[in-house]
Amino acid sequence: MNQALTRRGFLAGAASFPLAMAANAGDAALLRVVSRQIEVNGKAAKAFAIVNATGGTGHSYVFDKKFRARVVNELSEDTLLHWHGLRPPAEQDGVPMLSQPPIKPGASYDYDFINTRSGTHWMHSHLGLQKQNLLAAPLIVRETQEPMFDDLEHVVMLHDFTFQPAEQILAELKAGGGPHAHHDMANAAMGGDVTFDAYLANDRTLDDPETLGIESGMTLRLRIINASAATNMWIDLGALPGELIAVDGNAIAPVQGTMFPLAIAQRADVRVKILAPGRWPILFRAEGLAARTGIILATHGAAIEKLPVKGEVAPMIGLEFERRLRSAAVLPDEPVTRTEIVDLTGGGSDYAWGLNGKMSMMHDTVFTVREGERVAAVLRNQTGMAHPMHLHGHYFKIVALNDAKIDGALRDTVLVPAGQSVTIRFDADNPGNWAFHCHHLYHMNAGMMGAIRYSNAA
Ligand code: C2O
Ligand code: CU
Repeated sequence: MNQALTRRGFLAGAASFPLAMAANAGDAALLRVVSRQIEVNGKAAKAFAIVNATGGTGHSYVFDKKFRARVVNELSEDTLLHWHGLRPPAEQDGVPMLSQPPIKPGASYDYDFINTRSGTHWMHSHLGLQKQNLLAAPLIVRETQEPMFDDLEHVVMLHDFTFQPAEQILAELKAGGGPHAHHDMANAAMGGDVTFDAYLANDRTLDDPETLGIESGMTLRLRIINASAATNMWIDLGALPGELIAVDGNAIAPVQGTMFPLAIAQRADVRVKILAPGRWPILFRAEGLAARTGIILATHGAAIEKLPVKGEVAPMIGLEFERRLRSAAVLPDEPVTRTEIVDLTGGGSDYAWGLNGKMSMMHDTVFTVREGERVAAVLRNQTGMAHPMHLHGHYFKIVALNDAKIDGALRDTVLVPAGQSVTIRFDADNPGNWAFHCHHLYHMNAGMMGAIRYSNAA
């Protein structure tokens, strides 16, 4: 994840791009799920990682229709990886209780499917609360013919971090609060219901940030993944002009700006122009909080000075930005043949969350579709917190925000702010049983999850 891909390197060929060559040669990528030690705020912490054959994290390859990977579980507990953003057949989707059984310690599982999606994606454990302990990694699929517009490309994965075991946080939330958990609405409206010890960009805090060498005049493409368990973030480019060119791996009509929202589980491809020599911090700011993380872009010889880990309080994320997004792809304008209402509910003092008033498990049915239908789902948030809603196995188009129709972006995860509604539309073209859930890890594990089923699927 820390190697940058330069155009020069790309043109130089295989040496700088070994994984791509391996994937194209038809070999399965090796992905080992391991335990590791990291250092956060000067203290050692235990975390997970997904390590590839070159010792880096995650997987990056050139789109060639085939996705082949061997996942090896080197932990002393079960695990299972989900390919967030790809559209595998349902039985390779990596959701326990729904698509496949967990991988036992010491065991492995081979994935092999036709991949139809390029873009910035990621992989993560879908088992219990493992994702809070950094069991996630980038999954980058490049178009074979994609012109290299940018001089440099860099992947940034964001995490919220706590020294507290995630099980303890969930228990505190369910018990009505504790040192790391609170869900009185005043607090929840300001920065979320879990208190974190740090925010990480590529595993580093702003105290000890990753520094990326750049050159003046360069164009840089950042592929940013919000792998946080419970934190919506803002991307803050500071003084650099930028444009958002893709969301959740799907190209959009570029949007100029310096601040872009990135909800839990979403991805953003941002193109930045390096105006002049110097040191240019790219910050990632937790919504409703002063806390932030970041990486530093620096030209040769630029003085590096430390930035405080707290700055101004970042605003909450609403629907204003979503309203400005338009997908680059034009979809056939066929009529919707099924409309479903899904109420996002719960969040009382017992921290029970749900869909349509019911605290659910992943195999509980939210609604049923038939292959070939065009489905609209109206997601109505009846609670006091925002929910990043994610549908597996499909992409959806944002077609309405509250009562206003829009011709919006294509996404796999959309943030539905408190008290508001978002309508998504998708084609039922991938038979199976698919997870549909809030991607806030604690909301999901407290009942805001379920499955969308095909009535004509096994
Ligand atoms: Cu990113 Cu159901 O997951
Ligand atoms: Cu939620």
